[in-house]
Amino acid sequence: MTREVLPCSFVADSSPHLDAIADAYDTVAVRYAELTRGALDALPLDRAVLAAFAELVRTAGGGLVADMGCGPGRLTAHLRDLGLEAFGVDLSPVMIDLARAAYPDLRFEVGSMHAPGLADGRLRGIVSWYSLIHLPPPEVSSYLAGFRRVLAPGGHLLLAFFESGGGPVAAFDHKVTTAHRWPIDDLAGLAGEAGFVEVGRMLREPCEGERFRRGRLLMRTGGHPG
Ligand SMILES: C[S@@+](CC[C@H](N)C(=O)[O-])C[C@H]1O[C@@H](n2cnc3c(N)ncnc32)[C@H](O)[C@@H]1O
Repeated sequence: MTREVLPCSFVADSSPHLDAIADAYDTVAVRYAELTRGALDALPLDRAVLAAFAELVRTAGGGLVADMGCGPGRLTAHLRDLGLEAFGVDLSPVMIDLARAAYPDLRFEVGSMHAPGLADGRLRGIVSWYSLIHLPPPEVSSYLAGFRRVLAPGGHLLLAFFESGGGPVAAFDHKVTTAHRWPIDDLAGLAGEAGFVEVGRMLREPCEGERFRRGRLLMRTGGHPG
């Protein structure tokens, strides 16, 4: 697949909170990459959601897809294997070094998924796979609005997160740095306020070694049927 030079530069937001996330993931990046490499092979429901997302993006004409908070790039590569023109962005420079080493044919950038350097409507798809979870809950709306801004009409958004099991949004002791479990309706509501229309959702029970139920939300911007 031809690699497009991205018409943007990603600049890491410099806030103490984001610096702390980057530092925490820099520290565990090598171990995280080892633990998660190939993990999707044992998760058919997750692969099904990713395949549905990819088909929707391809059917809508394809185009650039950002893996926001890509970590070591395993999802970016999976999206590429599903026929998408995917690239990855992450706050953690060590994660991005690992991603570039593992997938030299793909584009990865150190930066914030707030995507300050991307033109409005530039993307056809965004995947945020467990990357919104570390944000303080009041900040999530502005990130969703940023995703909406850089997605073209008819673009798709896929969110993966820990679901709260019926309770309100709540912090928990994530192994890397504080994260939050979200009620799926709350995240869907915030995405709706940011200008997204829900295409579908999935809850799956924890697999062996997992603590919490998982939520996946597939959304699209207005403009085309999903
Ligand atoms: C739980 S890991 C998930 C990594 C990858 N999506 C995966 O599933 O393998 C969360 C990642 O999101 C990144 N991240 C968190 N907040 C971010 C932000 N505001 N901008 C860019 N990356 C962020 C972290 O650095 C970390 O690599």
